[in-house]
Amino acid sequence: DLQEVEFSDLEEKLCTPEQKHPKPDASALVFGKYFTDHMLEVPWSLDKGWGKPIISPIHDLKIHPAAKVLHYAIELFEGMKAYRGEDGRLRFFRPDRNMARMLSTAKRSSLPSFDANEMIECMKRLIQVEREWIPHSTTSSLYMRPTFIATDPSLGVASPNQALLYVILCPVGPYFSSGFKPISLMADPQYVRSWPGGCGALKMGANYAPTIYIQKQSELLGHQQVLWLYGEDHQLTEVGTMNIFVFLKNKNGERELITPPLNGLILPGVTRLSLLELAHEWKEFKVVERCITMAEVVEAHEEHRLLEIFGAGTACVVCPVSCVSYQGKEYTIPSTEESLSQRFYKTMSDIFYGRVQHPWAVIV
Ligand code: COI
Repeated sequence: DLQEVEFSDLEEKLCTPEQKHPKPDASALVFGKYFTDHMLEVPWSLDKGWGKPIISPIHDLKIHPAAKVLHYAIELFEGMKAYRGEDGRLRFFRPDRNMARMLSTAKRSSLPSFDANEMIECMKRLIQVEREWIPHSTTSSLYMRPTFIATDPSLGVASPNQALLYVILCPVGPYFSSGFKPISLMADPQYVRSWPGGCGALKMGANYAPTIYIQKQSELLGHQQVLWLYGEDHQLTEVGTMNIFVFLKNKNGERELITPPLNGLILPGVTRLSLLELAHEWKEFKVVERCITMAEVVEAHEEHRLLEIFGAGTACVVCPVSCVSYQGKEYTIPSTEESLSQRFYKTMSDIFYGRVQHPWAVIV
């Protein structure tokens, strides 16, 4: 019988006090640069199934140079966060959503399935072991990076016989060093991030590698991120590594929050979902998942109906856009202190840091 992932099998080999690393200053928390003392690993093989989960001191991996992850990019990851509440309790944000997405990406990557709840229990234990690494700050958090790689030493282009799932943790401050500061975007329809029938809706590393060069192009032109367009009609799809939201007054004068639908081109972000759910609950403006084109954004801009554009993701939560460069023109996007993006950020932070009790924030 094939073994499943089981929390009750979890082994722990914890650091000795001398093996522990010094913790960086909260002010020095560059995203993804510092790692906590331990990692969680769960090996898998085709003939045995899942091995015992183990938490041990963070270490380099030893993999064969033919490991499939290194050749065919059989790899996926997740991004999720744990927070230290103002009440001192630790909270894990909607881990069920990230595990569901991880399982759908695993399926498409021909990596094996696992029990999401058992994995969440193992991750909760990892958070407890590393509790001292969660910054005592309400702009910081512990970023968790579950990663799943095919490790079997064979060049065959085939589904893997061996794999490793591991989780590493980074204490992080605000994603953008400039803080909650609007970013400027390059929108160039010659570059495409995802396409129908492709894997843009899945969190595989292979989706990110080809975007870095384009990101660099946007920086060379003086922008911070890419606004990813798709199709003849230049639909807005995502911004950098985030989902995109457009807030405007429609032609009937009603306020409308728009984000592209989950049509296979869009990563189903957990922050995206949370903002949609909050907005539906508020019932203060229309909330719609539909395609929106650059022509519509430009028209709304010209008619002074464009209220806001912002990105949404786990790393930054909400990121306002100040400017879009498109077909030789720079469009300045309004921004106010009283913005919807600020309100979302505040509402989400209240949940993260336990200022309000909410079922999305799972107590660890
Ligand atoms: C996000 O949470 O916005 C991301 O996808 C960022 C990650 C790829 C670094």
